[in-house]
This record gives sequence, structure tokens and C-alpha cells, in this order.
Amino acid sequence: MDNQDKNIVLKISGLHKSFGSKVILDNVNLSLHKNETVVVLGRSGTGKSVILKCIVGLISPDSGTIEINGKDTKNLTGEDLSNFRCDVGFLFQSGALYDSMSVRENLEFPVIRQNNYNGEDVTSKVVEQLQNVSLADSIDKMPSELSGGMRKRIGLARTLMLNPDIILYDEPTTGLDTFTSKEISTLIVKMKEKYGVSSIVITHDMPCAKMIADRIVVLKDGKFVAQGTYDELSQSPDDFIRSFFSY
Ligand SMILES: Nc1ncnc2c1ncn2[C@@H]1O[C@H](COP(=O)(O)OP(=O)(O)O)[C@@H](O)[C@H]1O
Ligand SMILES: [Mg+2]
Repeated sequence: MDNQDKNIVLKISGLHKSFGSKVILDNVNLSLHKNETVVVLGRSGTGKSVILKCIVGLISPDSGTIEINGKDTKNLTGEDLSNFRCDVGFLFQSGALYDSMSVRENLEFPVIRQNNYNGEDVTSKVVEQLQNVSLADSIDKMPSELSGGMRKRIGLARTLMLNPDIILYDEPTTGLDTFTSKEISTLIVKMKEKYGVSSIVITHDMPCAKMIADRIVVLKDGKFVAQGTYDELSQSPDDFIRSFFSY
């Protein structure tokens, strides 16, 4: 195992997924390194969300392996499975807060739901994570009282409650105005710097990609067809690749 391999926190190998006769993922390979942010670009409907859903087990791949910290996620049981649930945080496209719960309850929920939860008071943790997203004063609000950008930030704070090593973001800035998008992008960078998290971020928001990406990969016809830094790919000789960068 060389140094490069040791720093791999997530490894996707030979991932295939079809729905009926429609091939969506056709040999997807990706290694995510510790403290790295990888941005995934691709046209709508190309399978970007399917990749994240395969990682968290919401969709079963037809073939291929997904290893987290060296362990195949397919065969996880018991403690390994609960560790996995803590290790990987998923920020859904919608933010997906529970509307009937206050902000505080939304943040407590992932902790209380854990098998090894022992009834301890998690208020200080809730406050810490709300401070991370600059929303400590919203602790007793209901989701319906929050703007779209605030809901996204609360969703991120909730994801952070379990101290994940890896965060998967599905279009974190979609539907937000430029200013709020920039705030979310800044938070993604902050989470990496403060907690050393590794992230995969699906986005169409190129200013966001420019701010956060250590590496960008492009999904086309079920495969990653290009990878590089923002500057490298924006100067690609390939028209398709370059098209993402003319915005
Ligand atoms: N659970 C599912 N059942 C059937 N088809 C699905 C399912 N999830 C996604 N698809 C199809 O897979 C394709 C890729 O979807 P998705 O990953 O959501 O695209 P995107 O790249 O926009 O995130 C789409 O054609 C979608 O309709
Ligand atoms: Mg999607």
C-alpha cells in the first residue's frame, strides 16, 4: 500500500447500475482522498445522484464495490454498520428537514437515533453546529420559519452532528441566490478546513465548483470521462468538457 492508497477514504470500483434496460452507471471508478473535495459535473439525468445513493446504500448497484476506509460497504453488520452511518454524511438536494420538528429537534435526531445513544444531553453539540453555520439564534424555530438558504445551512449542521469523515453533497446550492450560494460554498470549504472532512459535491454551480473543488470529475455516458483541477478542465481541448465552464 503506497502513501496515496493510505489516504483513500472512499473507493468506488467498477460500479454498474441499470434501471430496466436503461444503463445509468457503466463502470464508474473514483477514489476520494482524506481532506479532498471532489466536484462531480454532468448533464441532468446522467446518474450523479445515483452514485451518491449507491454510496449510502439507498440504491444497490448491479456490480462493483464501494469501500469506505478500506471496508466494503456491502458486507457491513453490527458495529461496522453503525460506524459507517456516522462516517458518511449525506446532504440531500432538498435539505430534507423534518417539518414537524424544531431546529433543535432536527439536529438532535441523528444522535438520538443511534444504537449507542445513552441519553446524554446534546444541547452543547447542537449549539456548536448551529454556530458553525451562524444560526445559533434559530435553535427554537420551526423549518417553516426559515428561508431556503437557512434550511440548507441547518441541513448541513444536522449532517455534522455525527462528525462524519465524509460528506456527500447533492446540489447544495441549487435554487439559492448568488449570495446565499456563496455562503454555502464558504461553509463547505470551512468544514474541510475545520474538521478535515472529505467531500463529494454534485453541482452545476460553477462559481461554487471553483471555490471548493480540489479536483473535478465529469460524468458522461455512465463513466467519468475527465478529471482535473478547475483550471485544467476549463482549458480542456474537448468541447463537451469545456462547455461546463462557459457560464
Ligand atoms: N430509483 C430509480 N428507479 C428508476 N430510475 C431511476 C431511479 N433513480 C434514478 N433513476 C434514473 O436514473 C437516471 C439518473 O438519475 P440521477 O442520478 O438522479 O441523475 P442526475 O445526474 O441528474 O443526478 C435518470 O434517468 C433517472 O430517471
Ligand atoms: Mg441529481
